Amino acid sequence: MSTLLEVEGLSRNFGGLAAVSGLGLDVQEREVFGIIGPNGAGKTTAINLISGVIKPSSGVVRFRGEAVTGLPPHRLVRKGLARTFQATTVYGQRSVYENCLRGAYLHLYPGFLGTFLHTAAARAMRAEADARIEEVLGWLGLTAAADTIASNLPYGAQKTLGLAIALVAQPSLVMLDEPAAGLSAEEADHVRDTIRRLRERGIAVVVIDHNMRFMRDICDRIFVMHHGQELARGTPDEVLSDPTVIQAYLGRAYAKPEA
Ligand SMILES: Nc1ncnc2c1ncn2[C@@H]1O[C@H](COP(=O)(O)OP(=O)(O)OP(=O)(O)O)[C@@H](O)[C@H]1O
Ligand SMILES: [Mg+2]
Repeated sequence: MSTLLEVEGLSRNFGGLAAVSGLGLDVQEREVFGIIGPNGAGKTTAINLISGVIKPSSGVVRFRGEAVTGLPPHRLVRKGLARTFQATTVYGQRSVYENCLRGAYLHLYPGFLGTFLHTAAARAMRAEADARIEEVLGWLGLTAAADTIASNLPYGAQKTLGLAIALVAQPSLVMLDEPAAGLSAEEADHVRDTIRRLRERGIAVVVIDHNMRFMRDICDRIFVMHHGQELARGTPDEVLSDPTVIQAYLGRAYAKPEA
């Protein structure tokens, strides 16, 4: 295993609030790395900082050893670091395929959308994008839905489409913020299986979720945040039985080992 992502001293203030403060972590290749913690702990802010959605007040983000701190998301995606897109960034009136194609152009061939449409280079790009889209839709079980208008998909499939758009860019690390939130148990199992399949294909995953059964099932390591800082880190078993984690976050349901 080698280190894919390294974060040191990452901090971000909002007014007087230290939303993320002195955060340090590392994610290895092919690792499923979980981030948990109470509401407002700074989890979403942390992945927004890492993925370039917002800029840090201080700290360093390195990807494959290269400092990438503060680079905008589209530049990080081209380096292999992607995050999923929320339902709001999926074009509801466009098909699953069209959403993926737009993602491919946006991430892989910026500036080419709508230009040079009839050149050989454009045809080659389109063929490459189509091949990737077909592959990604196959992985995610969305092939049959390729021509479905996004807003007509069930909620779980709309979230999967957000992942498909990110995967078309062929990232080596993808970050998912609460991928199982609001899903049925069956849909959550599908997300779990998808994350496992990503890892089998060599993609590392950073995942935030409040569903501890889901997190225990998929994560290699879990990092616990509280008040913008690290509270604990370790294997799921270590972290979920840690008294400080139970007290700050999990509550009494976790005070005894599960049956
Ligand atoms: N753009 C912003 N402006 C001001 N404050 C913000 C902003 N974004 C986040 N915060 C604050 O930063 C803190 C951390 O928020 P964040 O969304 O990162 O928490 P979280 O761990 O993802 O919580 P949840 O589990 O509820 O999603 C919160 O107090 C939040 O109100
Ligand atoms: Mg959040």
